[in-house]
Amino acid sequence: MSKIRASITGLQGYLPEYVLTNAELEKMVNTTNDWILERTGISERHILKGEGLGTSFMAIKAASKLLEKMAISPKEIDLIICATTTPDMVFPATANLIGAGIGAVNAFGYDLQAACSGFIYALSTGAQFIETGRYKKVLVVGGDKMSSIMDYTDRTTCVIFGDGAACVLLEPDETGNGIMDFVLHADGTGAEHLYMKAGGSRYPASEETVKNKNHFVTQNGAAVFKNAVQNMSDVAVEIMQRNNLASEDISFLVPHQANLRIIHATAERMGITKDKVLINIHRYGNTTSGTIPLCMWDYEHLFKKGDNLVLAAFGGGFTWGAIYLKWAYDPK
Ligand SMILES: CC(C)(COP(=O)(O)OP(=O)(O)OC[C@H]1O[C@@H](n2cnc3c(N)ncnc32)[C@H](O)[C@@H]1OP(=O)(O)O)[C@@H](O)C(=O)NCCC(=O)NCCS
Repeated sequence: MSKIRASITGLQGYLPEYVLTNAELEKMVNTTNDWILERTGISERHILKGEGLGTSFMAIKAASKLLEKMAISPKEIDLIICATTTPDMVFPATANLIGAGIGAVNAFGYDLQAACSGFIYALSTGAQFIETGRYKKVLVVGGDKMSSIMDYTDRTTCVIFGDGAACVLLEPDETGNGIMDFVLHADGTGAEHLYMKAGGSRYPASEETVKNKNHFVTQNGAAVFKNAVQNMSDVAVEIMQRNNLASEDISFLVPHQANLRIIHATAERMGITKDKVLINIHRYGNTTSGTIPLCMWDYEHLFKKGDNLVLAAFGGGFTWGAIYLKWAYDPK
């Protein structure tokens, strides 16, 4: 009997209806469509509007649809891991709200926060529960409502991010496909370059923190860019070398969608051709934990059983990581 691996057996995304275009941003801050397109590759992003709607709203939409299309009862789900940087509330965990929303009454769940690397961390973590044989159905969600922590007067951040969520189902696989390897890294000294200062235990919400706009993302774009290019390409090459993968062995790269220039630099270091690099940043911007599962969802129709996929991400923390997986099913 071959080793039990965790395979993605289905996936589903959800994007909120409202589309915030570069043209609309031109009216909000001192920016231009040309600048945004040239420097980031983004044309538009989706924004979740509506009183009281958080990340769980988008995740529940995606997860319900996934279970419906796979004809799986929510009662069969053992575990829900939600990667998010914008939980509905500090507590309870958004994973619990998702479980309640989809009727996963037999599942336990927890949130995992690794900023833009969140989905890579969560997928690696979820796979462990399958590989040990302990659980049979693990739902891994990546989603963020980045608009909830965005200062829409700060042109250096508000043009980049968007809202969205997607989820995958992990199930045991003994055919040789599934998650083959992962590499995860972190460097907390990078915290000074990308953070949200207030709202946690260090600086709880106060009149002062609100006045100082401390509940929004603060980013040193140039420092993050430099580290992202270096570390995302390093980790992608690291996972190739550990698994003796030549560039021609790779069917697709599914990169975190933060900046088109970071994606191109990573692909170049890996030596893979452009047609293997999956990109949707122009439509969604950076949805943080959502980018990788949303990208896999958009291109699911291209994946064939046995295809070698490399997923790679870099984000706040700093955090970065990569996953090598063999796709488990043909286009449906
Ligand atoms: C943010 C980012 C797009 C900025 O692009 P950049 O080419 O590095 O631009 P710089 O920060 O060097 O700024 C260049 C100029 O453009 C200006 N600028 C910044 N945002 C702008 C905008 N939206 N529109 C027009 N001009 C803008 C800057 O103020 C600066 O002007 P100055 O030279 O007069 O000071 C880029 O640094 C980046 O993508 N960083 C990584 C972001 C990321 O990945 N974050 C998520 C975590 S993974």
